[in-house]
Amino acid sequence: MISVSRPHQLLDSGIYVNLQEILGLNLHVKCEGFNFAGSIKLRTARRLIEHAQLNGDLRPDSVLVESSSGNLGVALAMVAASTGLRFLCVTDPRCTTLNLGLMRALGADVVVVDEAEPNGGFLAARKERVRQMCAADPHYLWLDQYTNPGNCLAHYEATAPVIAKHFPELDVLFVGTGTGGTATGCARYFKHNGSGVRVIAVDTVGSVNFGGAPGLRRIPGLGASQPMPLVEPALYTGVELVAEEDTVRMCRTLARHGLLLGGSSGTVVQGARKWLSHNDPQQELTAVAIAPDLGERYIDTVYDDNWLADNYPGVG
Ligand SMILES: Cc1ncc(COP(=O)(O)O)c(C=O)c1O
Repeated sequence: MISVSRPHQLLDSGIYVNLQEILGLNLHVKCEGFNFAGSIKLRTARRLIEHAQLNGDLRPDSVLVESSSGNLGVALAMVAASTGLRFLCVTDPRCTTLNLGLMRALGADVVVVDEAEPNGGFLAARKERVRQMCAADPHYLWLDQYTNPGNCLAHYEATAPVIAKHFPELDVLFVGTGTGGTATGCARYFKHNGSGVRVIAVDTVGSVNFGGAPGLRRIPGLGASQPMPLVEPALYTGVELVAEEDTVRMCRTLARHGLLLGGSSGTVVQGARKWLSHNDPQQELTAVAIAPDLGERYIDTVYDDNWLADNYPGVG
């Protein structure tokens, strides 16, 4: 039994799905969607707030503010509600109706910016709005997931150690990169503990995280339209890039086997499959992939036939 007095205290579900039966792939998928925020971003949200507390930046009248396209916003809204803090999320039109509703249900204020960059991204506009708000009102406290060391520390201190505990024989870990917090925190942990675990970063085609050309990306979570300061390619053993068409195919394949994962989880599993097919054809390695969230938040996109026909005709 797991019993908590505050929802944000439930962090690690310890749930993995081994894809051997579903895909014939020797890969353990760590499902991070089983907490009250519904994603891995609960870890980040808790650690960002803790960082502000430890720094003395968080005052009783502070209003936390963050730029997020969804999951971090939901997680911060949940932790804020659970700990008696106020939170305002600056997001963009790609944030799903569901995530907007979740944040509002949890008591957060939400501001949607709509000034897109030429490459279709909204990051610059979101960050500019946060800066303006903080300049105009000193009560606003920007947690800044893009540069905050707490983002990597969440995964250095908790995500990676728990995986290492569950899989003492771990050889390779596959991690998606958005801000880079998860990948860098995990890679740094495995580098410091000297276990030789390889960390493979998985990103979306159209993301600039690994020097690729910026392009239109429709699935939130992974990738970036601007370089991310926390992405540290030198720490990762390798990088796999996955086209969104292949992400959608993987998500839908898994769903047909009853495993409804989020969009970025499909990317990470597809990236892991590619890497393992080249580097472990005999399936001898112990491999884990982090699945950041579950599939309900993508019912109107990745799992919707009309969305698919409009955005990726021919993929089915
Ligand atoms: C669904 C999902 N996948 C992956 C990521 C990427 O994680 P990180 O920002 O630690 O690189 C995020 C982050 O927002 C996410 O929401």
